[in-house]
Amino acid sequence: MTVVTCVEDLRLLAKKRVPRMFYEYADSGSWTESTYRANESDFGKLLLRQRVAVNMENRSTRTTMVGQEVAMPVALAPVGLTGMQHADGEILAARAARRFGVPFTLSTMSICSIEDVSTALGGDPFWFQLYVMKDRHFIEGLIDRAKSAACSALVLTLDLQIIGQRHKDLRNGLSAPPRLTLPNILNMATKPRWGLGMLGTPRRHFGNIVGHVKGVADMGSLSEWTSRQFDPALSWRDVEWIKDRWGGKLVLKGIQDVEDARLAVDSGADALIVSNHGGRQLDGAQSSISALPAIVEAVGQRIEVHMDGGIRSGQDVLKAVALGARGTYIGRPYVYGLGAMGEQGVTKCLEMIHKELDVTMALCGHTRIDQVDSRILLDVPQEWLARSRPRLEVLSAEKPALAA
Ligand code: FNR
Repeated sequence: MTVVTCVEDLRLLAKKRVPRMFYEYADSGSWTESTYRANESDFGKLLLRQRVAVNMENRSTRTTMVGQEVAMPVALAPVGLTGMQHADGEILAARAARRFGVPFTLSTMSICSIEDVSTALGGDPFWFQLYVMKDRHFIEGLIDRAKSAACSALVLTLDLQIIGQRHKDLRNGLSAPPRLTLPNILNMATKPRWGLGMLGTPRRHFGNIVGHVKGVADMGSLSEWTSRQFDPALSWRDVEWIKDRWGGKLVLKGIQDVEDARLAVDSGADALIVSNHGGRQLDGAQSSISALPAIVEAVGQRIEVHMDGGIRSGQDVLKAVALGARGTYIGRPYVYGLGAMGEQGVTKCLEMIHKELDVTMALCGHTRIDQVDSRILLDVPQEWLARSRPRLEVLSAEKPALAA
């Protein structure tokens, strides 16, 4: 029996149990992967302040994200093809999240459909992530389907209108379902547990799309399909009509720049996510955690600021909260849990992150996550704020309110 103690253990197990094509789809960034790596390593630049002889009883990590109660400020990020990491992956992850008391966000590019997840949860709410495609009729339909499924927040992703190149996906010929080429068959033969699961489920296509977009039965190459269907002309105007049509809580995902953060505030959204898509889009961009403080400084009083990218532990969650994130998201950590051990693996991932968060918060002398701020950090790298300061000054000159 493998003893699983941390997210890295789940990653190693997933690598053994999931076909290479799908494991590498998760464990990759775009081009040189420098932003993907920086997302994780920049957390190491933040040092925590140890405090002692503080009463550590009665701790709570409970808080809210866009007005919804959460057991800790961690949601499951939208991840495409989750149902290829493990049979019925989205359903299993949604169940684990519900049991734990954190939001699950279903990707537009999921294998299990909105309706599959809704049925599996007995109508309980979850969050839905929207990609905007050229076919607006299809987008309207998707928004309406999310409403009918009682989704309680819409996460609109703004940073993937054209796709960043991920070398491994090209080499592996990523597709869903996988093409039955000799290398794929040989590799899948070494993953019997995964294969049996897949044989036992009818869900092997993009459930939100196949059967809903005319002429799409199967998607050869994901990147090819994306480049044909996703709308490169997406604008803040579209954000406006999506907000109106949706009418519920709206979260804008993929903000890295203070100017875009200001536009997100102007759009009337309820929250924004500081995110670079897990280092899968603009390679050479700054890490997400290093982009967070300037955005909190610029707009944190006017919109709920969330972040994702590189979180691998509860300590990382605590650091993001200390820098002003009101919520965080994990992508790969739960996907590795799923590939490693199915629903139990996602639960394990959430339990480990919760325990790390709870104990580390206490060792920093705090008992309530809502009261954590930057004073629990020894310092914040000044260059993180400094490189955005010129932008902040320009914004302050344009909009006097921002200077306050
Ligand atoms: C993603 N991400 C993503 N985001 C989104 O809005 N829609 C999607 O379909 C996907 N798909 C996707 C697939 C895979 C395999 C990964 C790893 C990521 C990005 C995701 O929501 C989130 O921003 C990152 O995963 C956060 O970084 P970490 O936690 O994975 O480091």
